[in-house]
Amino acid sequence: MADAKKLFIKTYGCQMNVYDSERMAEAMGAEGYVLTEAVEEADMVLLNTCHIREKASEKLYSDLGRLKPLKAARPDLKIGVAGCVAQAEGEEIIRRMPLVDLVVGPQSYHRLPALAKAPGRSVDTEFPPEDKFDHLPERKALRGPTAFLTVQEGCDKFCAFCVVPYTRGAEVSRPVSRLMAEAEDLVARGVCEITLLGQNVNAYHGEGPDGPWSLARLIRNLARIEGLARIRYTTSHPNDMDEDLIAAHGEVTQLMPYLHLPVQSGSDRILKAMNRKHTADQYLRLVERIRAARPDILLSSDFIVGFPGETDQDFRQTLDLIRAVGFGAAFSFKYSSRPGTPAAERHPVDGDVADERLQLLQALITEQQRAAQMVMVGKEVTVLYEKSGRLPGQMVGKSDHLHAVHVRDSSGQVGDLVRVRIVGSAPNSLSGEPAIP
Ligand code: SAH
Ligand code: SF4
Ligand code: F3S
Repeated sequence: MADAKKLFIKTYGCQMNVYDSERMAEAMGAEGYVLTEAVEEADMVLLNTCHIREKASEKLYSDLGRLKPLKAARPDLKIGVAGCVAQAEGEEIIRRMPLVDLVVGPQSYHRLPALAKAPGRSVDTEFPPEDKFDHLPERKALRGPTAFLTVQEGCDKFCAFCVVPYTRGAEVSRPVSRLMAEAEDLVARGVCEITLLGQNVNAYHGEGPDGPWSLARLIRNLARIEGLARIRYTTSHPNDMDEDLIAAHGEVTQLMPYLHLPVQSGSDRILKAMNRKHTADQYLRLVERIRAARPDILLSSDFIVGFPGETDQDFRQTLDLIRAVGFGAAFSFKYSSRPGTPAAERHPVDGDVADERLQLLQALITEQQRAAQMVMVGKEVTVLYEKSGRLPGQMVGKSDHLHAVHVRDSSGQVGDLVRVRIVGSAPNSLSGEPAIP
């Protein structure tokens, strides 16, 4: 296909954007576009954006600035903005950035091929009545042994700091039959690990053959697919961890022993101001129940420091909660005021104070992450090889506990599930060798 048109996609933000970028690439693939990694040779550039923090959404404008010379040299180059900034700012992007040809939101990107063909500049940030997944081409392309699968989208929780309910819309779950078909299809094409995605994935309640199904039921059914070795899901809200889902962690062998369960803060006062609708103690008791079902599970979380009104004492309570839980990993962020959210009206914490808290919190998390990794040294774990490493004869993959593992294995192939003895721990990964059977 020497004359195939070329599409360059840059993906910002969360894993759901990674999934959406794949689906958009497939939609444009049906129009004759092939992906390129060289932006200079692209006929179309698509920026799939994130609005979660100010820094994330500013990246769009600096990247667009960098595309100006390219567009000036080749006026027929199409530039599109997709994702959550597209949803939040729509028309304003078109007004501010004359080089942008089209803006498409996360719920209407099945219309991307039509928008790309339309003359002039266009904006589509509707929440259309039809389901985009019904209008996207079947999934064909396949790269590695792992895949994402969006099962639920949007959020009705309205945490006071968060833009997601506005950019992704109300909570919607995809029907069980569609998800089973998509998962079976992925497995038939070589995938052996599927990560189920949703902004509130454990609030899943998709239509099943006999009424709505919970996430636990969906997972138990997916586990019946021959060849699907691993199932993960992200991101969960503490209030939606029901008993069956907790039990599944002890019963479904394919369900991996790692759970991302954001708590955001350890102060009840701040949790209330955030509209999280649970206390620190309720979170701790939930963790106990999850660990009773699956004692070796690794937990991770998200934290926000410097939320409006956060005092030193509130912050100390967050550190106390972290010490009480013992996390395997965590993402932490300095609060960023987002237009249109309730917290944006409130008085911010001093920036330097927030920076200092972030450093303290990250130091504690790093300590816990190292400890969780050190526990693995000397043990045998299962690793799914995802790619070759930088060194000759080296493979890189993930353990059941989602640790990145570098393995000295000259006969290893991408997609192999291998028993590995862990011999060392580096800041963000483990190293190992195939275990001798
Ligand atoms: N649905 C998930 C997370 C969505 S966003 C949940 O319920 O936890 C991912 C993370 O970004 C959040 O967990 C939060 O820690 C962080 N985040 C969201 N809005 C933010 C803001 N305004 N400032 C700083 N961090 C924010
Ligand atoms: Fe945002 Fe809260 Fe919804 Fe998570 S649960 S997406 S943090 S509003
Ligand atoms: Fe960002 Fe939208 Fe995901 S705001 S984190 S890309 S849901």
